[in-house]
Parts: sequence; structure tokens; C-alpha cells
Amino acid sequence: MTDTPSPVLIESDGPVTIVTLNRPDKRNAMNAALITAMIETLESLRADERCRVVVITGAGPAFCAGMDLNEFFGQEDRTAASRERVIQNASEWRYRLLRHFPKPTIAMVNGGCFGGGFSLVECCDLAIANREARFGLSEINFRHIPAGPVSKSMASILRPRDALLLALTGRPFDGAHAERIGLVNEAVPAEQLLAHTLALAHEIAGKDAAALRLTKESYRYAAEMGWDASLAFTAAKSYELLARQVNGESRDAAVLDFRAGRLKPGASE
Ligand code: COA
Repeated sequence: MTDTPSPVLIESDGPVTIVTLNRPDKRNAMNAALITAMIETLESLRADERCRVVVITGAGPAFCAGMDLNEFFGQEDRTAASRERVIQNASEWRYRLLRHFPKPTIAMVNGGCFGGGFSLVECCDLAIANREARFGLSEINFRHIPAGPVSKSMASILRPRDALLLALTGRPFDGAHAERIGLVNEAVPAEQLLAHTLALAHEIAGKDAAALRLTKESYRYAAEMGWDASLAFTAAKSYELLARQVNGESRDAAVLDFRAGRLKPGASE
């Protein structure tokens, strides 16, 4: 009996965790098993103090061929309720879990990136692409639309003319063009992709973890707020940062004291 390979691989490079979508035979198309594995992986990395930055990439020649077209358009064997849950998970893990993940995330786009793969790139904080990687909002070519979080992702990262041109034509483009339109930070030759991405990840991993987390939260929420609400929000986040950096340590020390039996916070004076 052969074991089914895990749909997600996890590897550490010191404080940087590399998460690899691992369905190379299906060009890392996102099916229910891969989505569940990504949710579990991110939830475990959230609590893992050794992990300070997450890099997401794909095994084999592609980064991600989007949603698994066989599973998502041929699920007659699923009940309506379980199908709804699968579809909800498929969107939520990207636009909620990944987009608001408490540690910085970098998409390392090693190869083909289509449809749903776009929102995977957008929901990461940063992205570095292989200059030759092929991208495409290909849905229009099979009479579909950029569904789930893809339309919103495109609206939030691209200029309107670029987003609509790509969505209405389904034209493929390469990593160099993805850099020009701001879909990725940088496009580099394939042989430099890993070293380049890891250098960036390690640079960020060297910063204060609480400041990184709140910088990201401030940016993500401020983008959706008006000026007054965003000033109030970032003021509150500044106090939260102080609390995390100062009180957080003393609070943790108190919990350690309690666990070691040195402190009985409920005892009478
Ligand atoms: N869903 C399910 N299976 C997919 C898939 C997807 N989105 N994309 C690729 N695959 C499968 C193919 O069916 C094939 O499976 P098989 O070997 O069992 O026949 C396998 O992955 C390899 O695909 P292939 O087309 O032979 O590889 P390629 O390297 O020549 O081309 C792509 C790669 C990604 C360019 C091409 O597969 C493609 O256009 N896929 C669809 C991408 C897309 O439009 N996604 C949007 C979905 S929202």
C-alpha cells in the first residue's frame, strides 16, 4: 500500500517556515484536502513561537493552478451542506486566515499561477515571483468569473484598468509583468528565487515580532477605514504594542510563577 503524500509540506529555515502546496501532479490546484491541510498548518504556525515569517510556495512546475476544477465543479456526491462548508473554507482560509495571519507572509511564486492562485498571492503580505512564471485570470476562458475572494483581491491590489483587462481577456502574462502592475513586489530569475525570498524573509524575521504583527494589523484595517477611525485604531494599537512588549512579559512571568507554585493569585492576604 502506498501512502498518499501530504498535500502540504512544512520546512524550517531558522525563524522562517516554508509551506509548500504539494499536489505537483495537479499543478497544486486547491482541493478540499489541500485547503484543510493549509488551515491546519496555519493554525499550528500561529502558535509556534519559532516561526516568525511564513513563505508559501508550490511543489513542481506550478505555484497554484487555482481551484481544483474537477472537485469544485463535479461534487454531486456531496450533500448541499457539506458542499457549502467546503466552498466557505476555500475562501475563508485565504481572505481571513491568511490575510490576517499574525505573522508576515510571503508568496514565492515559483511557476504557473491561475484563478484562485491570484488571491493566494494577494492575501500574502509580500510576493516574489520567478520572472518566467505564467499568470492568468483564466476563468473567462471557460465561461466563468473570478469567484470566491479573487475579484476582491484583484480590486484591492491592482489598478482598475489592469484588473479588468486581465479578467475580461484571460490573457496570460509573466512574472516580469506581474511586477510591473504591482501584483508582486519583485520578479527575479528562477535560480535566484529561493535565495532572494529567504533573504527578505530573514530580514523581516529579525524585527520585533509584536511590532510586525501590529504593523500588519494597522495596515490591513486602516485600508478599510476612514481617517478618523483609522487614527483611533492605530492609537489603540500603539498602546497594545506597549502592553505586549512590557506588560506581556511581566504577565507571562506571572503565569510561569503560578505554574511553578510560586504565586497563588487567589489566596487571601
Ligand atoms: N484543477 C484540477 N486539475 C488541474 C488544474 C485545476 N485547476 N490545473 C491543472 N490540473 C491537472 C490537469 O488536469 C492534469 O491532470 P492529469 O495529469 O490527471 O490529466 C495535471 O494537472 C497537469 O496539467 P497539465 O495541463 O498537463 O500541465 P501543464 O504544466 O501543461 O499546464 C496549467 C499547467 C496550470 C497551465 C494548465 O493545467 C491549466 O491551464 N490549468 C487550469 C488553470 C486554470 O484555469 N485555473 C483556474 C481555476 S479557478
